[in-house]
Parts: sequence; C-alpha cells; structure tokens
Amino acid sequence: MSEHAAHEVVHVPAASRTYDVVCGRGVLADLGEMVRPLITGHTLLIVTDSHVWPLYGERVADSLRSQGFAINIFVFEAGEARKTLQTYGTCLEVMAQSGLTRDDGVIALGGGVVGDLAGFAAATYMRGITVVQVPTSLLAMVDSSVGGKTAVDLKGGKNLAGAFLQPALVVEDVDTLATLSPALLTDAFGEIIKHGVLSGPGLFNEIADHPLNAGLMGARDCATLDFDRMVSLVAANVRVKRDVVVADERERGLRQTLNLGHTIGHAIEAASNYSLGHGSCVAAGLAILCRGATSLGLTPAPVTRAIVRCVESYGLPTTAHAPAEGIIERLRADKKRHGSTVNAVIVRFLGEVEVVPMDIDRFAQIVRAGLIP
Ligand SMILES: NC(=O)c1ccc[n+]([C@@H]2O[C@H](COP(=O)([O-])OP(=O)(O)OC[C@H]3O[C@@H](n4cnc5c(N)ncnc54)[C@H](O)[C@@H]3O)[C@@H](O)[C@H]2O)c1
Ligand SMILES: [Zn+2]
Repeated sequence: MSEHAAHEVVHVPAASRTYDVVCGRGVLADLGEMVRPLITGHTLLIVTDSHVWPLYGERVADSLRSQGFAINIFVFEAGEARKTLQTYGTCLEVMAQSGLTRDDGVIALGGGVVGDLAGFAAATYMRGITVVQVPTSLLAMVDSSVGGKTAVDLKGGKNLAGAFLQPALVVEDVDTLATLSPALLTDAFGEIIKHGVLSGPGLFNEIADHPLNAGLMGARDCATLDFDRMVSLVAANVRVKRDVVVADERERGLRQTLNLGHTIGHAIEAASNYSLGHGSCVAAGLAILCRGATSLGLTPAPVTRAIVRCVESYGLPTTAHAPAEGIIERLRADKKRHGSTVNAVIVRFLGEVEVVPMDIDRFAQIVRAGLIP
C-alpha cells in the first residue's frame, strides 16, 4: 500500500472465506487498489446512506474509478428506520439495473445499517456476489463489518431476515471517525468494553486506563480524537471478534460469548423504546449482569468493580432507569420464542467467560440483584 503509513492488517480465515481487514488512517485512498484483485468484472455498486455519501462518497468512487471500475451508486436515507425489506428490494432492483453480474461487486460504505443491508443484498443477488465492507462508524468498524452477519429488520423485530456472507475485504479508515457525533462514538464503546472483557487484562486495561472519548462530550464531532491510538484499538477489537467468528462462524457455540451483556441489554433497549443506544444498553447490561453474578458468587467482586468503573469512565450507564420487573418481563417475553432457559454469559475473570444455561427465574435473580434503582 502507498504512503498512508500507519495501518494494521487483520487476517480472517473463516471457514466459508478468508479475507483481510485493513485498518488505518487514510486507507480510503487505496481502496481501488485493494479491491482490484478481488473482482474479475468491471462494475461496482456503492451502497451508502444520505449522511455518509456527501462526506466520503466521491473519495471512494474516485479511488475505485482509478482502477478502471464503472461505478453505480445507491444512496438511501440514513437511519435504522430504513433497514427494511423495501430498501433492500430497491437495492436489488438497482443492482439489476446497473447490470451487475456475479463477476462484479458491492461496496458497502457507511455504518452498520448500510453494512447489514448491502451485505444482505449482496448475499441474495444472483445467489450471492462479492461484497467489500467499508465501515465508517466506530460500531461498524469493531463489530458489524466483521463476521459475515447481514440482515434487515421486519415489523416483527430487528434483523429477522438475513443471511451469512463473509466480505471479500474490509477497509476501515479510522480518519472517517472525525465526522461522527461524539454520542455515537461513545455508544460504540459499550461493545469495545465487552471485547476487552472477553479478551483479557491486556486489552481491557488498555481500554480502561485511557478513555478515548475523554474531552469529546459536548463537541460537535470527533475531529480531536487520538486517531493513531484509535487505529491500534480498532484493530485489537477486530482481532477479538475474528477469533470468536473463526472458531464458530455460524453461532453454534463460542460465538454466543459475543452476546455478553446483550440479554439484559436488549431488554433495556426494548424498555426504552429504542431511545437508548445499543452500546449504552450493552454497557448497562454488562454492569448489571456482573453485579448480580457477584452477589450470587459467580463473578469475583474485584472483576465486577473494574468493569463497572470502566463503563463509568466512558460516561456510559451502569444501570437502567427502568424497574427490574419491567426488564424481567421483557426477558420472559423474549424467552417465549426461545424456551425457558437463558444462555447466560458469565464473567469468571477478565478474558474468561462461560456460557451457563440457566432457568429464567435464576437469571431474573441476577437482574434484581444487579440493578441499582
Ligand atoms: N452484522 C452484525 O454482526 C452487526 C453487529 C452489530 C450491529 N449491527 C447493526 O448495526 C446497526 C448499527 O450500526 P451503526 O451504529 O453504525 O448505525 P448507522 O449505520 O445507522 O450509523 C449511525 C449514524 O452515523 C452516521 N454515520 C456513519 N458513519 C459516519 C461518519 N463517518 N461520519 C458521520 N456520520 C456517520 C450514519 O449515517 C447514521 O446516521 C444496527 O442496525 C445493528 O443491527 C450488526
Ligand atoms: Zn451488540
């Protein structure tokens, strides 16, 4: 790659496909060069949203055109509300109108909504064509762009229609985080702290000792972020997700550990009517889970203290402002679809979690004990 120095490459040898995640500063300029060897055709469709296209669209299109690709563009209105079958259908029609064949490809440029929708369209168009993920939100960089899960929402629930499709390449230009809102950046740290807990004291302490969002609250954007540190942090997070996904691509066992904090987190998210960010709910879910598990003798108290302190230091919530019974009701409603057992992901130590199947009533005990009113 060219003079765009500081970058890290994380290799992902998933069973269905092996690919690289290139994480660095300014790497968007090299996108065309990196994509060229992966596509035998000449046509690409850039799928992106109304916020990201004006910021980075031309730069991406220019880089791809410089390698001789014909570029088509599908821009939809930003936001989870557009992650629908309707947008997905329009995307497929645009793919057909663009004359995309199985030799061509899709470039997903944006946050997790774009990545999930474009990935699902690529997974189903002509029974699957190549997708390159170019995540521009912190959440998409550390979580959604890696691992091959793609989906859209149905009226009956989030991510209910989807497919597995590993990307051929993931290009993460950390410099694009400059334009993200500090609130969105902070929310993503919920998942980053989760990755730290899964990984162990090395990464966890690195995250806990230097809150990277310090000083950004109240700012208009993230232009003053420490981008060099961000490169190594994002790459470390990708490695954590990579290790889990490679061991269990289809979520039969180990991949469930990525749900750490999510069972309670999802219930908090639903109880807030989706007004709270997903990462914030995961952070709160993690803190509540650990406190509750400590009171039942499952998680050592010092581990819980370290995790709660870390969540706090990022300005993320460590409890929920909803009554315990309300959250437990949500859990039970969710369990109607899954049976009465919860696969609780319990933290034994930093870097050591265990999936413990437990009765919903025992899990409710954890919630009651862990929630601070
Ligand atoms: N596939 C998976 O494994 C997986 C994992 C976690 C989450 N997800 C999905 O990811 C989605 C959430 O992702 P998200 O938080 O990125 O949401 P998002 O895609 O809606 O992005 C959040 C907002 O930030 C804007 N944005 C993105 N990059 C920007 C940039 N560089 N500068 C300025 N604005 C920018 C977007 O336009 C949007 O308004 C959810 O739909 C969730 O289901 C998927
Ligand atoms: Zn999550």
